[in-house]
Amino acid sequence: MTRVSFPADFLWGTATAAHQVEGNNVNNDNWLMEHMPDTIFTEPSGDACDHYHRYPGDIALLAELGFNLYRFSIEWARVEPEDGEFSLAELDHYRRMLATCHEHHITPMVTFHHFTSPRWVAAQGGWEAETTPAKFARYCERTTRHLGDLIGAACTINEANIGPLLTNSGFMPPPEVMQQAPWWSAAAKALGIAPHEFVPFIMATSTRARDTIMEAHRRAVQAIKSVRDFPVGITLALQDVQATTGGEAQANRVRYDLNDSFLEAVRGDDFVGVQTYSRHRIGPNGSLPPEEGVEVTEMGYEFWPEALEATIREAAAVARIPIIVTENGLGSRDDTRREEYIRRAVRGVANCLKDGIDVRGYTYWSALDNFEWMMGYRPTFGLIAVDRSTQQRAVKPSARLLGDIARANAIDF
Ligand code: BGC
Repeated sequence: MTRVSFPADFLWGTATAAHQVEGNNVNNDNWLMEHMPDTIFTEPSGDACDHYHRYPGDIALLAELGFNLYRFSIEWARVEPEDGEFSLAELDHYRRMLATCHEHHITPMVTFHHFTSPRWVAAQGGWEAETTPAKFARYCERTTRHLGDLIGAACTINEANIGPLLTNSGFMPPPEVMQQAPWWSAAAKALGIAPHEFVPFIMATSTRARDTIMEAHRRAVQAIKSVRDFPVGITLALQDVQATTGGEAQANRVRYDLNDSFLEAVRGDDFVGVQTYSRHRIGPNGSLPPEEGVEVTEMGYEFWPEALEATIREAAAVARIPIIVTENGLGSRDDTRREEYIRRAVRGVANCLKDGIDVRGYTYWSALDNFEWMMGYRPTFGLIAVDRSTQQRAVKPSARLLGDIARANAIDF
């Protein structure tokens, strides 16, 4: 057996996102979509994991397990419930969360936007509206003024490229199709806009949306930095795009559109958040499903932990800035598969470090079993299980495995 140690200040964390765990985020566009008749969301988020009230116990548990980083998001719709109207009570809530991390010697990494937007932003045209970047930057600035002294590092926007990725890999119909659905029209109507004006973040795929998102990121970085100087970056959903024979040209195109064009755009940032779950194989006729007989996850894509190493290498080569793995994980009922996934993914991180790549941390998605967007509560990514009828937490063996790696700051292969 060989023991591989990590750099002394390496960050070992887990992540959550407000809408997926807090519960009752009733003022954002996702809650609205969840509640439309015949929506594509399989169930509403409801109380989620009630992390909004239970964060003290959850953070204490993460510390006890051995983690030194916790990545969570601030819900814009709570902090700024109406255009220009900020809630001190909600800002104070997040201040208490940050203070709790510090009490437990955990570095808090904050995400300012993780998929959900206030309804008033959606009503103004969401992620295609010219006004959104400035409004987002204003929210980031106000929030940093209130919380900045306690923030360890920040991600402006989670997965700037998620819309194009979901449509390209066939997870979601293109917007033209989606806009025809009665539930979509009903959501737009509730916001007082036309169906084509409704542009929620995870469904924002146009060039205009992409420009709006990247502009929002740039303005947010400036706004945050005008107040405080902690590390700030953006996160990207990166698949390991692989070509099968004859698919090289297409694969190169997809890799550039979904990964590298975004990585080029973040050069100069303090870090880039790499978020990787699987590989994406492309043949001469486009995306290929997992081959017959291979192991697939609860999400329907292939069990492929080696994708992390490949995308860290790609991100480092293209963006040429430090890397933090801000998400990586497995949706599975079988926790032994999660253990295997973690071991192989962490091994990939160790390989990158050995080659001199500047990787600063590894964050597992997710701390808790939680609301997996359109798929509801069925997929289970958590290191900690949640019984939603009692809100009882149960630590899975994979949590102990990764927690022990974190505590030792080393892994034995
Ligand atoms: C997102 C998470 C999501 C996870 C697992 C990422 O795309 O940031 O919100 O739960 O993947 O599918």
